[in-house]
Amino acid sequence: MSLGRINRNLAAGAAILLMAAPSVWAADGGTVQGVVSDATGKPVAGAYVKLKNDQKRLTFMVISREQGRFEAKDLPPGKYRVQGVDGEHQSEWFSNVTVAAGGEDAKVGLLLNGKRGPSLAPAWPQRIPEAQVDKSPTDESGLPEGPGRQLVAERCVSCHDLQRVVVKRSDQDDWNHTVGRMRTRMTVASIPDLTAAETTAVVNYLSEKFPLVQPYDANSRLPRAVLSGKAVQYRAVQYELVNNHAEPHDVAVDPKGNPWVAERAGKLGRLDAKTLEFVEIDTPPGPAAADRQSLGNPQIDSKGMLWVPDGPNARWLNYDTNSTKFVSYAWPKGKGNAGGNSMAVHPDGTIWATGGGGEARQLNPATGEFKFYPARPSRPARIRAPTAWRLPATDRCGLRKTRPT
Ligand code: HEC
Repeated sequence: MSLGRINRNLAAGAAILLMAAPSVWAADGGTVQGVVSDATGKPVAGAYVKLKNDQKRLTFMVISREQGRFEAKDLPPGKYRVQGVDGEHQSEWFSNVTVAAGGEDAKVGLLLNGKRGPSLAPAWPQRIPEAQVDKSPTDESGLPEGPGRQLVAERCVSCHDLQRVVVKRSDQDDWNHTVGRMRTRMTVASIPDLTAAETTAVVNYLSEKFPLVQPYDANSRLPRAVLSGKAVQYRAVQYELVNNHAEPHDVAVDPKGNPWVAERAGKLGRLDAKTLEFVEIDTPPGPAAADRQSLGNPQIDSKGMLWVPDGPNARWLNYDTNSTKFVSYAWPKGKGNAGGNSMAVHPDGTIWATGGGGEARQLNPATGEFKFYPARPSRPARIRAPTAWRLPATDRCGLRKTRPT
């Protein structure tokens, strides 16, 4: 299997990208080694080996090689549990594996004697399969009877049709969060907001009529075949965010190799590429309430300056990843919303984005001046810098990285 193919397979559900940069992993880490075998005891090469450090919220994944042997190096010290997965089978979690810095390698034997869960049809997280989305009603005929129905039919159609709503399947907590987010959008768009009582009615209706379909199987998006060739050299690292509702929006990498996210919840986040620790950074207070934040996509220039659009607070923010200082550029009145997901840094130091009216927006940080250029194309373009880190589409609450070893 070629590298490109693996990337596609993993990306189908997990949006993983490969990383070719030299290793920046902790030098004082430890190693787990072992053997993967099938239910009859025969070694399995090309199987996925997941090593999970619950305390540090990190999951590493390496691939077994000849004679089913694997070796996961540079692991931060701590307690791990380890699971093996091949095309159709998986092992139990092998728990209580202790990794010590510079200590003896921990040894693990993994027996693939369990069946993997069913393959899931291609779908966005918490949404019905894509093939069914297009066939779902766009009007209120898709809303079952029940208290709250009328509110949804009337109040949730100003910006999108009801297909967006009826294709979602989620629990009460997540519906509550989504409706909260929509209220932010209503405020930003100067559309009358829901009252607290209306919000409760809408959330109760949606979580009763459109509940979560099935619990999420963490292995359901792994390929159904063992890997071979260069693919066995992969190592993936995933960090699971603490805040389920952080909604990290795109990843940008600073010149030191640390991945950053801008959270819709209003904070910046950085995963330290060496220690693999995640920190969140508050943005300077603005007019929008704490539960009404929505940062756009971050970009980082070659000097480590991070840029991010901040719609609810009517500004573009600059954060110096070296000096940790913020500079805020107030959005000019009458120019639409400052938010957006298309920011890009020009080599000449000016900052660009596309706007809701199809216009190009430019900031000159030296003068603080914004300029607006009406564009002819009917759709705003997305300009994205390539990065090695990606958000896993499976749960929207983690960061993943892969690299050839
Ligand atoms: C002021 C405009 C606006 C209104 C009114 C609005 N939405 Fe949205 N909605 C959006 C936008 C913009 C998106 C896409 C971006 C996003 O996900 O935030 C979206 C996306 C969604 C999604 C898909 C994203 C997800 O998290 O699953 C759902 C579901 C949704 N809206 C439900 C609702 C419901 C329910 C209501 C009524 C209570 C509503 N919307 C009212 C603007 C609006």
